[in-house]
Amino acid sequence: MAIEKVGVVGCGLMGSGITQVCAQAGCSVLMREVSPELVEKGLRGIEKNLARMVEKGTLSAAERERALTRLLGTTRLDELKDCDLVIEAIVEQLPAKRELFSSLDSICGPQTIFASNTSSISITEMASATKRPGRFLGLHFFNPVPVMKLVEVIRTIATDAAVFDEMVEFGKRLGKTPVCTSDRPGFIVNRLLVPYLLDAVRALEEGVASIVDVDQSMKLGCGHPMGPLTLLDFVGLDTTYYIANVMFDEFKERRFAPPPLLKRMVLAGWNGRKAGRGFYDYSDPKNPKPIEL
Ligand code: CAA
Ligand code: NAD
Repeated sequence: MAIEKVGVVGCGLMGSGITQVCAQAGCSVLMREVSPELVEKGLRGIEKNLARMVEKGTLSAAERERALTRLLGTTRLDELKDCDLVIEAIVEQLPAKRELFSSLDSICGPQTIFASNTSSISITEMASATKRPGRFLGLHFFNPVPVMKLVEVIRTIATDAAVFDEMVEFGKRLGKTPVCTSDRPGFIVNRLLVPYLLDAVRALEEGVASIVDVDQSMKLGCGHPMGPLTLLDFVGLDTTYYIANVMFDEFKERRFAPPPLLKRMVLAGWNGRKAGRGFYDYSDPKNPKPIEL
């Protein structure tokens, strides 16, 4: 089955990037958000990103126009009924995802493939909210989606082999390098990355070094493009906190436990770059300043 029409649910950090790369790859994309304001914000963000690529010469003006004509936004879930594939990128909470997939299951035809971009939640547990576990899998993209080359393709014990293979090919069509993984929380990347990020917060809590020095150390000492606290702000502290809870729940290992400081920051709404404040203050986005703790 050729994937022509893609539904993307959620247009935050990840959904906007997923919508963009699907449209660039020639799919027609219908993005769903919860309010007209968020639909508008999502579409404007994608337009801005495509315009930036044209300015930099990585995309032609004609390609940008073609991508834009393939993009639509809606608040109505039932409009996703004739999609070949629906990719979910909403908040990292199981009840919300199960409720969404259960509704989609009664809206979409039996052929529609469902994929979740979850960072940590069991794909099997989401699939069990539907009557199509064979046509359900994980497609885990990385932030920022238009730039990062990887997609983890996650198969459950119930995913049809043909559907899995089709999604591996779809990942390639998006210009990504697919890796195959089984349904264990965190898959490959987050199983390794999340304990590292949480340890950076613990180092800060224990007074090992300042925010800037923790970040500089991993950038200059290990060649990482961003220090861990900057990366936490980039990913979202709320999202990381939810991921840590899911992984700790599954593995019961201290390395996955969310540090109290992370919890306090999320409770305060300091969710990172998207909230204007996390480990850094983004009042001047080009010149973030470390916060006082
Ligand atoms: N959307 C689209 N493109 C973006 C972008 C965005 N949000 N941010 C940066 N870019 C593009 C820029 O346009 C630029 O493109 P060109 O090379 O064509 O000019 C390129 O990325 C590099 O950007 P900059 O020169 O502005 O900045 P940089 O060199 O510092 O790179 C970065 C930015 C690519 C984000 C880099 O800092 C980086 O790789 N950071 C680490 C990102 C990372 O680890 N991501 C994974 C997070 S974990 C995850 O996603 C999984 C999960 O479940 C939590
Ligand atoms: P985000 O907070 O930036 O965006 C989530 C969006 O989903 C919000 O705009 C919200 O309005 C919308 N939403 C919530 N419920 C909805 C619904 N029922 N229908 C439509 N829209 C709905 O979050 P994000 O960072 O984009 O994360 C989304 C998913 O992607 C999560 O599962 C997360 O774990 C995963 N993920 C995140 C990253 C990252 O670096 N942030 C990387 C890979 C995967």
